[in-house]
Amino acid sequence: MKLSVPGRATAAAVVAAVTLLTTGSIAGAAPAPEPAAAAAPDLPVASVKAHLTQFQSIATANGGNRAHGRAGYKASLDYVKAKLDAAGFTTSVQQFTSGGAIGYNLIADWPGGDTNQVIMAGSHLDSVTSGAGINDNGSGSAAVLEAALTVARTNYQPTKHLRFAWWGAEERGLVGSRYYVNNLSSANRARISGYLNFDMIGSPNPGYFVYDDDPAIEKTFKDYFAGIGVATEIETEGDGRSDHAPFKSAGVPVGGLFTGASNTKSAAQAAKWGGTAGQSFDRCYHSSCDTTSNINETALDRNGDALAYAVWELSS
Ligand code: TRP
Ligand code: ZN
Repeated sequence: MKLSVPGRATAAAVVAAVTLLTTGSIAGAAPAPEPAAAAAPDLPVASVKAHLTQFQSIATANGGNRAHGRAGYKASLDYVKAKLDAAGFTTSVQQFTSGGAIGYNLIADWPGGDTNQVIMAGSHLDSVTSGAGINDNGSGSAAVLEAALTVARTNYQPTKHLRFAWWGAEERGLVGSRYYVNNLSSANRARISGYLNFDMIGSPNPGYFVYDDDPAIEKTFKDYFAGIGVATEIETEGDGRSDHAPFKSAGVPVGGLFTGASNTKSAAQAAKWGGTAGQSFDRCYHSSCDTTSNINETALDRNGDALAYAVWELSS
């Protein structure tokens, strides 16, 4: 769903209106206002869900999971990579080993923008071995994929350089993202202006949690949710438990979104967000019932749109 949020486009319109008032004439000699920054597009939730359906089919065809070292992981990566390649991204697959098996990160760069200022958005693509991992973390993977495809579809040409990532072996201890960060040169690490992480953004009994990290990134997410009238809380269910942690340790500004895992929704949280008090945000966390049925579509939609808003705002 598309909802307008006050942003730079609005500010530019105000500038234009003021210019018109002060010059008193449209055809006056006033300097043209700066072009408005491209407004963040709506991320179609139906498209995000279509990617989840594909991840579910991949798991079902490969022993029920998409875990590191299993066929379902590589098939998930091949699915995402084919979409990105067809859309015009420059993709690379980074290999590492963990637990005696080869793991893979997928990195996709959108050509253009200032490569000394890179905005990254990422999510882990692996599941645990016990299930298909549709909320954890098909949800983040699908939304980041759809954001990247929307960049291509709209031919977005941001000031900064955009890079998207899908990490392997997060469930074995942030292995893929740590490998990526450890293998960056210090110059390339310093070029990353921000890393945005999306791990579990469609929890069936959702909360709306924003990482309390880099203030500018945090504010961008909070502004989006304020604009649609959805209350947020600071993420507290285990800071450092996802792929932003290696970036943060390396000094990169980080942020992200989360709709909750095994923690219990309080009565106060149910009052403001709906859902069921006294129940986990995700009762299927790390279990076999983390299927396409384990997704709250409203949460997935709102978080996908917040993701797009942040990517556009922070790179414009
Ligand atoms: N990363 C965890 C997993 O994949 C889930 C998780 C727990 C989480 N606490 C978090 C993700 C806080 C983001 C933020 O199992
Ligand atoms: Zn996860």
